[in-house]
Amino acid sequence: MKKLIMLYRPIVESNFTQNVVLTGSVGTGKTATAKRFCMDLKDFAEKQQKAVDWVLVNCRQRNSESSAVLQIVNHFQPNFPDRGFSITEMLRILRKDLEKRKVHLVIVLDEADMLLKKAGSDIIYKLTRFGEEKIESKELVSLVLISQKNVFDILDASSASTFKRTNVIEFGKYTTEELRDIVSQRAELALKDDCIEEDSMDLIAEVSSEWGDARFAIEILEKAGMLADEEGAGKVSVENVRAAKAEAYSSVTESKLIGLDTHQKLALLGIARASRGKAYITTGEAESAYKVASEEYDEKPRAHTAFWGLMKDLDMLGVVSAKKSGPGISGKTTVITLLDIPAKVLEEKIRGMLNSNRR
Ligand SMILES: Nc1ncnc2c1ncn2[C@@H]1O[C@H](COP(=O)(O)OP(=O)(O)OP(=O)(O)O)[C@@H](O)[C@H]1O
Ligand SMILES: [Mg+2]
Repeated sequence: MKKLIMLYRPIVESNFTQNVVLTGSVGTGKTATAKRFCMDLKDFAEKQQKAVDWVLVNCRQRNSESSAVLQIVNHFQPNFPDRGFSITEMLRILRKDLEKRKVHLVIVLDEADMLLKKAGSDIIYKLTRFGEEKIESKELVSLVLISQKNVFDILDASSASTFKRTNVIEFGKYTTEELRDIVSQRAELALKDDCIEEDSMDLIAEVSSEWGDARFAIEILEKAGMLADEEGAGKVSVENVRAAKAEAYSSVTESKLIGLDTHQKLALLGIARASRGKAYITTGEAESAYKVASEEYDEKPRAHTAFWGLMKDLDMLGVVSAKKSGPGISGKTTVITLLDIPAKVLEEKIRGMLNSNRR
């Protein structure tokens, strides 16, 4: 929050524009921080008699340029027709709205990688340059780009130059202590007084610290609470937490895996096996593990180029991340890493799914 305030202050005080990237893994507070910050910035500006407004676009839902821009236009015109206008026209209309209201708009593109991968990074160019012929040297728009992955890998050169490397804020995984704080704050809001054991909160923080994911911690708290309710117990016990964790593991992964086809599953099974105890594997290792898995399930493995397609699909889905080189690996090879799912759990899940297909 402090860094954000430092970076965005000039848009209020000197009519500048600012573009910042927030990155970090799942549940590290990127969306929550961006929202809280935008609300605070709006208040801060108001106190200085400046108009700042903000809009958050969820690019997972709005993963085309036109639907993303439409949502921004909708911010000022809720009944704007959802078809019939080109992007250029919509941007012109947005510009008029901003000029009329003399307002600076902070546009938060949340999960931006979803949009950028599908539609390219043109949108960044359009949103940042459309205020270029500015009036009274007043900038109209600032951007906040949120992404789990390194967005600089996806951005083209001209869009990347919009974001200075110094304007990247990294959200580290929450530590056990931080998660403990979040859990106890949530418990206070969600539960009646004295309805959770201190040990239970410690355990929730502990089990979610592997990923440093606050969302996971909150989900376990909720599930454990429901389990305690079902039992008619007066307090959330550590056993409730353990049971909640077991349930959460399966639901997190299943929702992502359910839509995969057989070869995507086989590729993922290979990656899971090759990834045991390793942070990164090479594509070569992934491909040979995929071939072994295919043979095991009597499937003809796809050719090399098609295997790449599978990697892309899995990367898109957010179960693996494929990127150029990683720590400890020299040269320009592509490495693959499993995201938020432990390799062993993933392996068991996919095998279960593949086996039930066979039956
Ligand atoms: N510091 C915090 N204090 C209290 N609650 C928090 C904190 N950080 C995150 N949370 C809560 O944890 C959950 C996950 O946070 P958030 O949605 O911001 O994560 P994220 O980084 O955007 O994750 P993703 O990459 O999956 O979108 C939310 O319910 C949020 O309110
Ligand atoms: Mg988020």
